[in-house]
Amino acid sequence: MKKHNLLLVFFLTFSVSLFGKEINQNKQSFEVGNGTFLLDGKPIVVKAAEMHYTRIPQPYWEHRIQLCKALGMNTICLYVFWNIHEQEMGQFDFEGQNDIAEFCRIAQANDMLVIIRPGPYVCAEWEMGGLPWWLLKKQDVKLRSLDSFYMERVGRFMDELGKELADLQITRGGNIVMVQVENEFGAYGTDKPYVSAIRDQVRASGFTDVPLFQCDWASNFENNALDDLVWTVNFGTGANIDKQFERLSEVRPNTPLMCSEFWSGWFDHWGRKHETRDATQMVNGLRDMLERDISFSLYMTHGGTTFGHWGGANSPTYTAMCSSYDYDAPIGEWGNVTPKYLKLRELLANYLDDGQELIAIPDSMPIIEIESIEIKEMAPMFENLPKKKTSFEVKPMEEYNQGWGTIIYRTKLEASDRQEVLTITELCDWGQVYLDGELLAYLDRRKGENSVLLPPVKEGATLDILVEAMGRVNFGEAIHDRKGITKKVEIKSRQQTKQLHNWEVYSYLPEYDFIKENANFRPFIEKENMPSYYRGTFNLTELGDTFIDMSQWGKGMVWVNGYAIGRFWEIGPQQTLYMPGCWLKEGENEIIVLDLLPSKSAVLKGLREPILDELRLKESVKHRKEGEELILHKEKAIHKGSFESGNGWQEVHFKKNHTARYLCIESLSAHDGGKHASIAELEVKDAHGNHISREGWKIVYADSEEAVKANNTADKVFDLQESTFWHTEYHNTQPSGHPHQLVIDLGKEYTISGFSYLPRAESNYPGMIKEYQVFVKKKPFKIK
Ligand code: GLA
Ligand code: CA
Repeated sequence: MKKHNLLLVFFLTFSVSLFGKEINQNKQSFEVGNGTFLLDGKPIVVKAAEMHYTRIPQPYWEHRIQLCKALGMNTICLYVFWNIHEQEMGQFDFEGQNDIAEFCRIAQANDMLVIIRPGPYVCAEWEMGGLPWWLLKKQDVKLRSLDSFYMERVGRFMDELGKELADLQITRGGNIVMVQVENEFGAYGTDKPYVSAIRDQVRASGFTDVPLFQCDWASNFENNALDDLVWTVNFGTGANIDKQFERLSEVRPNTPLMCSEFWSGWFDHWGRKHETRDATQMVNGLRDMLERDISFSLYMTHGGTTFGHWGGANSPTYTAMCSSYDYDAPIGEWGNVTPKYLKLRELLANYLDDGQELIAIPDSMPIIEIESIEIKEMAPMFENLPKKKTSFEVKPMEEYNQGWGTIIYRTKLEASDRQEVLTITELCDWGQVYLDGELLAYLDRRKGENSVLLPPVKEGATLDILVEAMGRVNFGEAIHDRKGITKKVEIKSRQQTKQLHNWEVYSYLPEYDFIKENANFRPFIEKENMPSYYRGTFNLTELGDTFIDMSQWGKGMVWVNGYAIGRFWEIGPQQTLYMPGCWLKEGENEIIVLDLLPSKSAVLKGLREPILDELRLKESVKHRKEGEELILHKEKAIHKGSFESGNGWQEVHFKKNHTARYLCIESLSAHDGGKHASIAELEVKDAHGNHISREGWKIVYADSEEAVKANNTADKVFDLQESTFWHTEYHNTQPSGHPHQLVIDLGKEYTISGFSYLPRAESNYPGMIKEYQVFVKKKPFKIK
C-alpha cells in the first residue's frame, strides 16, 4: 500500500472559509498515473463514501461528512439530481437544501475530496433516475439518446451546474477530483455517439481539469467505452473481485482499478422483504480491494432518506421505492453508527493515507419520543376539489402539467342494465375507482390490475378514478414512465367496446403550498372512509430526531412543519418515517397526513427507533400457491445442458428455433452437489440471437423461493439487476432438492433460439446450477 501525504498537504495549504464563496488555497492536481491515481503527483487510493445531499437534511450535512471521515474515508462521492434543481423547466434552484457547491465546500473544510456524478441520468432509486418529468411532455422524447430536445435541456442544465461547481475542481483550489459521464449506460443500451455527446457536454460546462470516468458493470463496460475516459466497474458485497476486474485489466493493463459502486446493502421496495447484506462479507470485499490498491466508492456509506415524493421505482414488475434509503449502509438512515460501521472502521484504520488521522466518531444526534400527536382537523379530498381542468380524451398527468401527486379523473356514464367491465390502459400506479361516491375497487400496477366490474348504472352516474403516482421508474427502458392514465378508459360489454370521454380532471400536488391553498380543514370527528388530509399539532420542549409511526394508517404521504417527510403504505416493510429533529421546533409543530385508505385509527406518535422490516401482506409474494405442483412428465425437453462453474454470462443456443410464450428451466443438479438452485439474470434470444424485451415478463411458477431470510424471489431473474437473484428457500424441507423449476410467461409468442444465463456474482456459492433442461410451450404449462 503506497502512502502519501494527503491530509498534511491539506492542512498546511488550505485556509477555508465555509460561508464566503471564495475559498483561498493552493491549487493541486489529480491525475491518472500508471496503475494508480495521482494526487499532486503522488499515488492515492481513493476511498470514497457515497452519500447524497438530497437525502440528508442540510443542517446535518457536516455531521454525516464527519462520520465518513471518522470511518477512514478520504473522499465523498455524490450524484447530482437534475430534477430537484430544475423542477420547472428553465428555473434553476441551487439554494439551501439544493446548494450542492456548499456541500462540496463543507467536505473540503473537513479535508475530504469529492467525486461528482452529474448524470444527467443517475438511477439511484430516485424519481425517473434524476431526469425531470417535464421531458415527458414531448410525446416522442427518447431519453438518454441524441434526441434534440433532451440534449438541448441536458446542455442547459449542465451549464448551470458548471457555474456552481467547475471552479471547485482541485486544480482551481477546490476539492473535486473526478467527474462521471452518464451512469451505467451499458445496462441501458449501446450508443457511443450519445455517451460521447454527454462527455463533450460535461467538458463544455467547465469540467476540463480532472479525469472524467464511466461506470458500468464488468459484463457490459466495453459496449460504450470511450478511449479518452477512465473506466470503472460497479458490483456488490459478495462479488468475486478478481472476476470483476479480469476483463478490465486485460484490455487496459495500466489503468488504475476502481470499483465506482461497491454496494454495501440494497434498496427497499414497497411490499418486499427489507434488504440487508452481511457486514463481514462487505468488509472482506473492501479488504480484498485495499490489499491490491484498488480504489472504491462504497455505495451507500450513508443512504439517508428519500424525502417527499422523490423515490423512484423498478420495472419489470413495477415496484416503487420506500422512503427510507437506509440501504443497510454502515451509517444508518438517521446518521447512526451501526455494527457495520465499526467493523469497517477497524479495517480502514489499517489502510490510512500517509498523515491521515482517524478522527473520533462524532456524537449521534439526540433522539426523542413523541407520545401522542392529536389529529384535530380533516379535509376529505373529494370535498376539496382543486381547480377543474377538462379534456375530451383521457391523458397522462404530464399533459395536464402535473408532475407528481394524485389525480382524479371524473366522467358521467350512460345507463346500462347489466354488468360491464371497465378497463384502464395503463394505470400508473395506484387506482381507486368510485361510482357515485362509492368505492368499487383498488387497482395496483404492481399486480397488473387494471379492470373493474361495474354494476348496472343509471344514466349520468358519476365515475371517479383516483390515481396516485408512486415514483417514476429509474432504471431500464421503462424510464419513459408517464403517470395517471396513459392511454384510454373503456367499457366492454358483450356487444361492444366503447371509450369514455369528456373528463373533468383534478390535480393534487404533493407540495405543502398546494395543501395550504386547497384544503379547507374542518374539525376531525373520526377517520374517514374517503381519501382525506388530516391535520394535527404537537408541542415539544426538547428537540431530537424521531420516527413517526404510521403503522395504524393506510397509504399516503406526511408533511411536518411544511417539510414533505415521505410516503407510507401499510404493506411495509417500512412502517415509520424518519423525522429529522432539525426540522422540528420548540413549541407547536404541525403535521399533515394524506391517507387514501380507510384505515383503522388516527393514532400518531414518534418512536425512538424505526420499523423498517415489517411486511404486512395479505397474500404471499411467492409464485406458487400452497400445494401447487408443476406437471412436466408429459412434456419433452427441447434442450438439455450443463452450465460451467464460475461467474459471468453463459450463452446457450438451441439446436433449432422454437415458437413459444412459456419457458421452463429445470435445474437437475448444482456444482457444489447441494440441493439449491439460483439464477441472477436470464435473457431469451429471438431468431436473430437478439435479447427480447423483458418488460412484459411474468413468473408463472417457481417451486421454491426465499422470501423470509432475504428478498430472493423468482422475479429477480428479470429485474435487470445482476447482483440480485432467485434462490430456493434456504431451509427448504419440501421439495427438498433438485429438480427445481422456474416458469416464465414471456408476455407474447416469440421465435426463440436460445438464452443467456447469469449465475450469482459470488464464487462457489450455493445454487450455482450444473445440469438443467429447458421446456417451451405456446400454451401455459399444466399446474395441479
Ligand atoms: C446502480 C446505479 C445506482 C444505484 C445502484 C443500486 O449501480 O448506478 O445509481 O441505482 O445501482 O442501488
Ligand atoms: Ca437479478
